[in-house]
Amino acid sequence: YMLKEIMEQPDAVSRTIEPWIKEGRADLSEVLSRDEVKNLSRFYIVACGSSYHVGVVAKYNLEKLARIPVEVVLASEFRYCNPIIDKNTLVVCISQSGETADTLEAVREAKSLGALTLAIVNVEGSSIARESDRVILTKAGPEIAVATTKAYSTQLAVTVLLALYAADCCGTLEKTEYDAVLNELLAVPDKMKQILSDKENIQRIAYQHFDNEDIFFIGRNIDYALSLEGSLKLKEISYIHSEAYAAGELKHGTISLVVKDTLVIAVASYGLLVDKTLSNAKEVQARGGHIMGITTESLRERVAAVTDEILTIPDTHEVLLASLAVLPLQLFAYYIALYRGC
Ligand code: BG6
Repeated sequence: YMLKEIMEQPDAVSRTIEPWIKEGRADLSEVLSRDEVKNLSRFYIVACGSSYHVGVVAKYNLEKLARIPVEVVLASEFRYCNPIIDKNTLVVCISQSGETADTLEAVREAKSLGALTLAIVNVEGSSIARESDRVILTKAGPEIAVATTKAYSTQLAVTVLLALYAADCCGTLEKTEYDAVLNELLAVPDKMKQILSDKENIQRIAYQHFDNEDIFFIGRNIDYALSLEGSLKLKEISYIHSEAYAAGELKHGTISLVVKDTLVIAVASYGLLVDKTLSNAKEVQARGGHIMGITTESLRERVAAVTDEILTIPDTHEVLLASLAVLPLQLFAYYIALYRGC
C-alpha cells in the first residue's frame, strides 16, 4: 500500500487543488471570507506527526507570502502552552484521519478560547471535520499505509493554496510572484511524475545504505522542515535510528555522533541557502561521514562537488520545493525498509 500510495500522489494533489483554482487564482472564499483573512493577526497550525511537519513547511510559506505570523505547535502540547489567541487568530488543524485525539482536543481548546478553527482533513465527516468551524478536504483518497505519503502531499498543497489566498487578500505579493507560485503549484503533479519515473535509481541508492544503523538529515529553512519528515518516515518504517537537524545546529553537539561512514542526507534544494548547508556537509566529511545530497537540477553541479552521491528533483519555485523533494525521501525510506525485511 505504501508504494501504491506514493505513486498516487500526482493524482491526489491534482484532485485536491482543482476545486480551489478559479479564474487563475487560488480562491478559498467559500471557506474564509476575504475580510476574515485581512483581519487575521496570527495563525496557529496544530497537528501531530507528519501533519505537524506539513505545518512546519507551511509556516515558512505563509510568512513568506502573506506576512502573517504563524506558530506551529504539536497538538499534544497545544492544550498546555497557554496559546495567545483572540477572535482574529485562525487555528488551522491538520489531520489525515480527522480522528487523532490530541488534534481533536486542540480544536476544542482553540474554540473555547474564541479562535476561528479551520480543519484540513482527508476524511469527510470525521470528528475534527465536524467540530471545526471551517473545513478544507484533502482528496488523497483512503490512506491505508500507516506511514503517510499522499495525505502529506495533499495537505502541503492546501497550505500553499492558503498562503496564496492570504497573500492575495492582504496584498502582500507582486502579481508576477503570485503567478509564478500558482503556476508551479499547478505543475507539481507533472513534476512528481517525473521524480516517480526515476524510482529505480532511488532503489539502487537505498540498496547501498540499508544496513546503516544511524542516518542523519540536515537542511536549512524549508529544507530543514522537509528533513524532519524524511527522518520520521525512515525511522517509522525501517527502525533505523534517525535524527533531523537544522544544518547549522549540527556542530553544537550532534556532530560528535558522526563517525566514519555515517550517512548524512543533506537536503539542499533551497538555492539561497545551499552554500550554507554545503559548508555543514563539509564538516561531516571532515569526520569521515558519507554525504548524500538532495537538490534541484540547476543546483546539481554545486551540490555534487561537495557530496558523495546525489538525487535531484526538477526546478521549481522555493515554495514548492518540499512538495517535490519529499518524494525521493519517501521512496528512500520505503526501499530501505523493504531491503531490511521490515
Ligand atoms: C501517526 C502516523 O500515528 O499519526 C503519522 O504514523 C501521522 O503518519 C500521525 O502523521 C497523525 O495522524 P493524522 O491522521 O492526525 O494526520
